[in-house]
Amino acid sequence: MIRIIKTEDYNEMSRKAANIIAAQVISKPNCVLGLATGSTPIGTYKRLVEMYEAGDLDFSGVKTANLDEYKGLTRDNDQSYYFFMHDNLFNHVNIDPENTNIPDGTKEDAEKECAAYEELIKELGGVDLQLLGLGHNGHIGFNEPADDFPVATHCVDLQESTIEANKRFFASIDDVPRKAYTMGIGTIMNADKILILVSGEDKADIVAKAFFGPVTPQVPASVLQLHKNVTLIADAAALSKVNK
Ligand code: F6R
Repeated sequence: MIRIIKTEDYNEMSRKAANIIAAQVISKPNCVLGLATGSTPIGTYKRLVEMYEAGDLDFSGVKTANLDEYKGLTRDNDQSYYFFMHDNLFNHVNIDPENTNIPDGTKEDAEKECAAYEELIKELGGVDLQLLGLGHNGHIGFNEPADDFPVATHCVDLQESTIEANKRFFASIDDVPRKAYTMGIGTIMNADKILILVSGEDKADIVAKAFFGPVTPQVPASVLQLHKNVTLIADAAALSKVNK
């Protein structure tokens, strides 16, 4: 069952998302948050930082596990997800760096790194709340449309459309990484609760397909319809193609 929260705009979406994450941290100070990158959660992270600065939120016991990372980018590369997370959240709150986890894109042995990451999530006791964004093709993490749902953390070849969408962040299209490490659909579905954020009219078609169409690996996010506790926070523009 997907609970839908409709907001007026991106800012309201971000505030409501931050409230849900804050409620999780307050009710379980040593919780495990699954985190996402991309443009969608930036406002949410900003709001969480404000709550921390106001003295309303304590991250000292929180552990995190990010969804994905480009393979081959060093951590100081400003396009790595490691860099993004530090820039947008970790450097601005009192989280213990030891408690933050992101697949290591510099590890060449993909199988070994992905198996170790999957094991690490198990050792953390699983994810309490997983934050997600939604790709235009329905991807979550870097799980692209495919013939089946990938179960565990794995290495993916990025699709041309994803490389194309990401090239704006790199000097040239040749600099865009071709591979990434990502939690699998099984890893994501194992989270206790899922919070997916969507904003903008350009996502309206995929929102209709993913949450109101059939469950199919061709639209990876559609699998969320089968999860027991999913909240979708979407702005009016993203919900404009559905009757919500
Ligand atoms: C990010 C991630 C991706 C993004 C998705 C949407 O860690 O896993 O699935 O959530 O590509 O990206 P934005 O928010 O930039 O539209």
